[in-house]
Amino acid sequence: MDAETDPGNLFALMRPPRVCICRQVSEDDIRRAVERGAHTFEAVQQQTDCSTGCGTCEQAVRALIRRYLPEGS
Ligand code: FES
Repeated sequence: MDAETDPGNLFALMRPPRVCICRQVSEDDIRRAVERGAHTFEAVQQQTDCSTGCGTCEQAVRALIRRYLPEGS
């Protein structure tokens, strides 16, 4: 069985990508936090625990917050 046919790898590929590896936070988690009213990096951090480890995901998290913020926020 190779990496492309291993069911474990297939399930991993089907999961939403993790933006924050340290805390296992996905793009969907960040989108939902923004939709629930977390409109700043700090608010999303509090709701999801993202960027509380190594911190290397901070710019990616900030970009996603900007992407999902409602118009005019
Ligand atoms: S990858 Fe997000 S804190 Fe390390």
